[in-house]
Amino acid sequence: MPIERAGVVRSKSRIEVLRTGISTANRPCLSPVENPLPLDQILLGDCVEKLNRLPAESVDLVFADPPYNLQLEGKILRPDQSQVDAVDDAWDKFDSFADYDRFTHEWLAAVRRVMKRHATLFVIGSYHNIFRVGTILQDQGFWILNDIIWRKSNPMPNFRGRRFTNAHETMIWAAKSADVKNYTFHYDALKAGNEDHQVRSDWLLPICSGGERLKNEAGRKTHPTQKPENLLSRILLATTNPGDVVLDPFFGTGTTGAVAKKLGRSFIGIEREAGYAAAAKARIAAIDPLPSEAIASFPNKRTEPRIPFMTLIESGLLAAGETLTDEKGRHEAVVRADGTLAVGPIIGSIHKIGALVQGLPACNGWTFWHFQRDGQKHPLDRLRIQLRESGKEPV
Ligand SMILES: C[S@@+](CC[C@H](N)C(=O)[O-])C[C@H]1O[C@@H](n2cnc3c(N)ncnc32)[C@H](O)[C@@H]1O
Repeated sequence: MPIERAGVVRSKSRIEVLRTGISTANRPCLSPVENPLPLDQILLGDCVEKLNRLPAESVDLVFADPPYNLQLEGKILRPDQSQVDAVDDAWDKFDSFADYDRFTHEWLAAVRRVMKRHATLFVIGSYHNIFRVGTILQDQGFWILNDIIWRKSNPMPNFRGRRFTNAHETMIWAAKSADVKNYTFHYDALKAGNEDHQVRSDWLLPICSGGERLKNEAGRKTHPTQKPENLLSRILLATTNPGDVVLDPFFGTGTTGAVAKKLGRSFIGIEREAGYAAAAKARIAAIDPLPSEAIASFPNKRTEPRIPFMTLIESGLLAAGETLTDEKGRHEAVVRADGTLAVGPIIGSIHKIGALVQGLPACNGWTFWHFQRDGQKHPLDRLRIQLRESGKEPV
């Protein structure tokens, strides 16, 4: 179950049918503010209008999959003359680039207002729109952290044979401004889940197909651009914590909501087409959240309390006079009563002495130095973890 948050009233998922057709796009914040926050709800209507009714600084992450402005000219046919299900819907049509830019400026400004100070924003797009979106968001003060390439393992072919296969989309990940440093990024968890390699900015994932793809009674796709859940899972796991609020202003079939519910996050979805909103509602209702042990945040080394080496001696986990070695037993140092190490006449911190014996400029003494118990060598870090788990670490 998602975690309850102070000051926020949670209600069951529902589609809220509100008055539409009256644009307040140029009058931000004049509408009455939605209070409490409409968590786990789909707001039906124009995103700028709905965003302007949300309280300022209220969401932790925004995932936006705006119209692409594809500007398709004519039907696209396969070699067998069957028609490709392309994005030719009214919601993707704009009169000009200037019209699209105006729209982009409005929704980005409205999204920016509801983002908490440390919140971040993902916008996904293709070459048709992502460069325009990128310029506008930078002009508004957003600070780009990464651009992630979603490389499609099963892209649609280029049926006319006049261009390269369009096999990727770009996601811009941005903070509200350059001075936001404490945004959520689960670096350690990502690395641990990637066989201890840093996760790269190019992600290979299939497009949404098979059982995950929503279909109508006639067996046709419910939505032309439904995103794969794995894409959203990566984003939410990397940049949010359980209980966080994730906003999606272009909700479509509710991929963001489905993944948020599964991962114990809250969502707010905005969608202007009633048919898509209804499909999203049914889809989300069928999702079972994962058990809390499966989604609890990975311990973040940077936010864990610092444990000085001396504390290991004071707590009796390590004795003054004990000998430490490296893993292979090539180097030795003696633990001193004052929390330093000695190699012959040279005295220093676990890090300095570790670096010195290896002839390196720096060393992590917690992983380099090992102690012996029952004939086995263990890294010092094990004692630090033991101390943290005991709850007796210094504050
Ligand atoms: C690219 S699709 C998003 C698909 C979605 N990510 C999914 O996985 O199903 C964009 C969606 O935004 C909706 N939309 C377009 N303009 C909108 C607006 N001004 N306000 C709210 N929704 C809008 C469209 O109806 C469409 O469903």
